[in-house]
Amino acid sequence: MYLTQDEQKMLDGEQGEVAQRLFRLLVRLGEIYGAEKMIPVGSVQVAGVSYKSIGDPGLEFLEDFASKGAKVQVLTYLNPAGMDMENWKEIGFPEEFAKNQIRIMEAFRKMGIVVTATCTPYLAGNLPRFGEHIAWSESSAVSFSNSVIGARTNREGGPSALAAAICGVTPNYGLHLDENRKPDIVIDIDTALENNVDFGALGYHVGKQVKNKIPYFKGIKNANTDQLKALGAAMAASGAVALYHAEGLTPEARDYDVSGLEKINVGADELKATFDKLNTGETLDIAILGCPHASLREIVSLAEKIAGKSLKKPIWICTSRVMKEAANRMGFTETIENAGGRVVADTCMVVSPIEDMGFKITGVNSGKAANYLPGFCNQNVIFQSVDELVERCL
Ligand code: F3S
Repeated sequence: MYLTQDEQKMLDGEQGEVAQRLFRLLVRLGEIYGAEKMIPVGSVQVAGVSYKSIGDPGLEFLEDFASKGAKVQVLTYLNPAGMDMENWKEIGFPEEFAKNQIRIMEAFRKMGIVVTATCTPYLAGNLPRFGEHIAWSESSAVSFSNSVIGARTNREGGPSALAAAICGVTPNYGLHLDENRKPDIVIDIDTALENNVDFGALGYHVGKQVKNKIPYFKGIKNANTDQLKALGAAMAASGAVALYHAEGLTPEARDYDVSGLEKINVGADELKATFDKLNTGETLDIAILGCPHASLREIVSLAEKIAGKSLKKPIWICTSRVMKEAANRMGFTETIENAGGRVVADTCMVVSPIEDMGFKITGVNSGKAANYLPGFCNQNVIFQSVDELVERCL
């Protein structure tokens, strides 16, 4: 693998022990995947932030790096943490868990990482441009940036993303290369997709079918960015789709002639079967929206639905700190909290310890959350639209 003089120096340890160890990891990755060189990255998003996911070994590893003076070279954001970093006590996150989560965030802060924890960094101040090389790790963020924005990233692991942040480069392979971004299979949609939950159901179904292929959607009449993020998140969770194209909706779709490709049809029957499969609960304990983290548009929509009402079951909407600040200033947080709901920042239903907070059946409108909640959080799931979930909580 070709290395520049500066990269060779990093490998020789001239930029310190941490950079040397992490650069070695990048070189090894590049060799495994046949990369010819490193490429500079415009930004990084690091996963493996919640204490629930990384535990004491991860915490010690990060504190060790921070104490040795490791610093990131590019704009670096974090994936959701295990709790709301400001309101954890009043929401009821366990004290011991909170102490460890705060230590993790402090280690990241010392490394120069922006300690705003979100799976939608593109809505919170880390927006790559079309064609830009980045190294992101959260699967829905990877899907959105590759597919909807047209930036270029592989699905990085936590360590390889941190390595890209500290070293400023990533090996040039996989989805960084034109030849690996071509669609493999056409998905022909012949049913109406009414709201975000339908896009989640579609994504869950297609991810199961195509696994790690690159699907090309035809027949999606219209979709806003919230719906495209729901679609990509679910496909990345039920399969391993890191890039999709959608005719008329995503920027690289127009580059391809897909007439000779294998085709799968998806209609109302497939979507109904998906809803039947994902619904495993009867009476919910809580509804949690915002997977991936809610946009301001989704927060406003919830506020309008529950304004002046009184919830019997709680509704949380998970989002980034940036979106929550905007919601606070506009009065949407107050409207939601007056009804008995919560705008929860920095975390989500999957990476926070909801199973230790007394919840057993969770309502969601996200195909990704419906996929993970049973295994990660021991939950039964009600998978419905926001309107239906609100109705159940009143
Ligand atoms: Fe984000 Fe958590 Fe969903 S990280 S995509 S809200 S599972």
